Amino acid sequence: MIAGDGIGPEVVGVGIRVLEAAAEMDASVELEFTEFPWGCEYYLEHGRMMPDDGLETLVGFDAIYLGAVGWPTVPDHVSLWGLLLPIRRGFDQYVNLRPARLLRGVSSPLSEPGALDITVVRENTEGEYSDAGGRMYQGTPDEVAIQESVFTRRGVERVVRYAYELAGKRRGTLVGATKSNGISITMPFFDEIFREVGGEYPGVEASLMHADALAARIVLNPQNFDVIVGSNLLGDLLSEVTAAVSGAIGIAPSANLNPDGRFPSLFEPIHGSAPDIAGQGIANPSGAIWAASLLLEHLGRAEAGLRILDALEAAISAGTRTRDLGGTATTEEMTEAVIRELLGPN
Ligand code: IPM
Ligand code: MN
Repeated sequence: MIAGDGIGPEVVGVGIRVLEAAAEMDASVELEFTEFPWGCEYYLEHGRMMPDDGLETLVGFDAIYLGAVGWPTVPDHVSLWGLLLPIRRGFDQYVNLRPARLLRGVSSPLSEPGALDITVVRENTEGEYSDAGGRMYQGTPDEVAIQESVFTRRGVERVVRYAYELAGKRRGTLVGATKSNGISITMPFFDEIFREVGGEYPGVEASLMHADALAARIVLNPQNFDVIVGSNLLGDLLSEVTAAVSGAIGIAPSANLNPDGRFPSLFEPIHGSAPDIAGQGIANPSGAIWAASLLLEHLGRAEAGLRILDALEAAISAGTRTRDLGGTATTEEMTEAVIRELLGPN
């Protein structure tokens, strides 16, 4: 458990309590937590976001549960490239799975959202998030900044394949997010591999769509989408759109998966550290709770995971909603409501 910064500790604290309640109801779930105090406060004290051997410390765990990273006293690219991004890469968590669903009791900002159940599969280890590049002539009028996107055949193929497999298990439609009209080298490469891999999945109805138009389509007709796969940056942007149309950024979870299981996977809410409301006890813990549900599912305890998601849905639909969902509930009230739903009346 890495609670991290801002509202991270508040929401992860909730997630742990919910996980423990789920374990109480299910003898097949046994949990043991170890907490690491890494983050921006740690940085101000030690000059780094986590110890040098942080990954070696984490590698022995079954899963990593993370709150949020980032605080105004540390530049975001320093904090993120010092903690979250090295874990995603170092542990080859190449699939970033981001489900968005209109939970019972949540209202969408869309007037007619229809059945909204979309999973974004985001590439999570390469693409636009690369540290290949640099700055020259700093501080002069000739200053240059270059950051190369890195798309590898292996990297694109494996995430696209994961998305086809997932679409096959869901409603059988897959959209590849591209931007090959403007980005004329890497994106056509992505498209090519998307089509190639598609040849192996005749049962999946697949198409490519430019990400700008796709973002608009998701807002206009979310019910038309099932699984969407995209590069690191496009997947990041689109998953925030799918989260928003499903009610609130505070609900959506994010699973950073190392599908071959060589390394631990990481589970977190999609939202950030929200410095503006940190420490006030009003953060929406739903994203962290849903992430906890995905964590159990990943560890082979799907039933217990589903029970957590059901309890969250039941609590919200019974009227316990935080402010971002149009209610007045505090983090604690929301937590208690979810745990009550989980444990049942007694
Ligand atoms: C996310 C976040 C991160 C990302 C940031 C904080 C680096 O936005 O998990 O979506 O872009 O991956
Ligand atoms: Mn993001």
